Amino acid sequence: MQEEREQWGSRFGLILAVAGNAIGLGNFLRFPGQAASNGGGAFMIPYFIAFLLLGIPLMWVEWGIGRHGGKFGHSSTPGMFDLLWKNRFAKYLGVMGLVISIVIMIYYTYIESWTLGYSVFSMLGSYSGMADLGSMDGFLKSYQGLNPDGYFSSIWTAYAFMIVTFIINFTVLWKGLSGGIEKLAKYAMPLLFIFAVILVIRVFTLGTPDPAFPDQNVWKGFSYIWNPDLSKLGDIDVWLAATGQIFFTLSVGMGTIHAYASYLRPKDDIALSGLTTASTNGFVEIVLGGSIAIPVAVAYFGVAMTQDIAAGGTFNIGFVSMPVIFDKMPAGGVFGSLWFLLLFIAGITSSVAMAQPVIAFLKDEFRMPHKRAVLTVAALVFICVQPVVFFLGDGFLDEMDYWAGDFGLVVFATVEIFLFAWIFKIDNAWNEINEGADIKIPMMFKYIIKYVTPVYLVVLLLIWFFQKALDKLLLTDAAPEQVPYIWGVRALFAGLVTLFCILISKAWKRRKLAAAKAAKE
Ligand code: PHE
Repeated sequence: MQEEREQWGSRFGLILAVAGNAIGLGNFLRFPGQAASNGGGAFMIPYFIAFLLLGIPLMWVEWGIGRHGGKFGHSSTPGMFDLLWKNRFAKYLGVMGLVISIVIMIYYTYIESWTLGYSVFSMLGSYSGMADLGSMDGFLKSYQGLNPDGYFSSIWTAYAFMIVTFIINFTVLWKGLSGGIEKLAKYAMPLLFIFAVILVIRVFTLGTPDPAFPDQNVWKGFSYIWNPDLSKLGDIDVWLAATGQIFFTLSVGMGTIHAYASYLRPKDDIALSGLTTASTNGFVEIVLGGSIAIPVAVAYFGVAMTQDIAAGGTFNIGFVSMPVIFDKMPAGGVFGSLWFLLLFIAGITSSVAMAQPVIAFLKDEFRMPHKRAVLTVAALVFICVQPVVFFLGDGFLDEMDYWAGDFGLVVFATVEIFLFAWIFKIDNAWNEINEGADIKIPMMFKYIIKYVTPVYLVVLLLIWFFQKALDKLLLTDAAPEQVPYIWGVRALFAGLVTLFCILISKAWKRRKLAAAKAAKE
């Protein structure tokens, strides 16, 4: 028997779910790190330009493609692209919307599980007394299984938290769209907001934590993160970083927005909903995300050290400098737990979204029952997360993140905007976006979607490819001992792409046969 198509319970629930999809570790860890190491206030110029010319238009495009696909029973991009372009290759382009989202899920849930682990460690005081960055880094490395002489003698604690996080994610997915994802968002999003506001207030009231260093205070922290270093604007890397951040934080370029939007009714608004969720994400990122990790690091360590911390990357900020700070702060255990729980909540409302496209693909295109589809995806993710856990120190996660979470998003977005605005034709696309709209989108955006966004994307992609991706691809700067693992990641990508292409081909053959049979009867 065929299951009925799922639906969102309410508009408010949908908006919370999409906001939950967008608001994630990217807002609280990736953003502050990127902003601080790419010119501070000056980073915000390319960031806003990318938000306006890429983020917002792509958001509408993806909601539009998604809702259109849903009308025909497709919640994943192979079926959606097949509707936009009457060509037998179109559906295979949609494979990106399955592979990118599931690959990000594979490593993202692992990082998410660290936040759960660290919230427990904060409560238990496990890292108390590790008052300098070096010892805390040792603690993190031992947790990751990279330092057997540290606090944790093996990787199994991390593995256990990975399993717990994994089970929570798939339990939510098991309960379905409205009973799982939407319900989670209804509780998680208000909680996330409260936790973040408490932490921001704590940061604002810190003043100068150590009177012996009057120069190290939160105000210096805010002026450090927001002071525009305009000389950075000539640096193409800053532009690439800002664009990459916009993609990652809005979750565009990967198939999850499409999936969520596909469960709308044909005349439900998407114009205002898309704008609302993008702006909420922006607010949480800039105002809340920008006010915690970096200002507090300057207050405790000073500007020079914070620069090093930010350059050391996302994990350094989240799992090394923050715990040291909590260790020094009065009632640090409480604030530490709050911080890591905040990250966990932000993470889980994002990671459940990443599984949705593949689950929907199995349900829509193979008529697989919901629970079987969830279990199948769980098995796939569980198998693939193993090398991420065990080869973390060998660059496995970084390589996955680069191709799926950075470069891949831009490639996918370029393909979809050409399909929607040029092959499906801009007038149809524009009508689709405006159907049932609760706001009037300025006409200007029709031209932005048709010309500006595609040109911007192509230029960006070319620069990105030749300046960075090519070297990565050819392993120019790779550490020799990591090369085999990098090839492992590539084999994994190739395997997933092949697997999904075969499945797509099978699904369409089945459909053709079924249609022929129905015609005969
Ligand atoms: N936007 C999420 C974040 O900021 C990450 C994400 C990427 C979520 C892709 C879903 C899909 O952390």
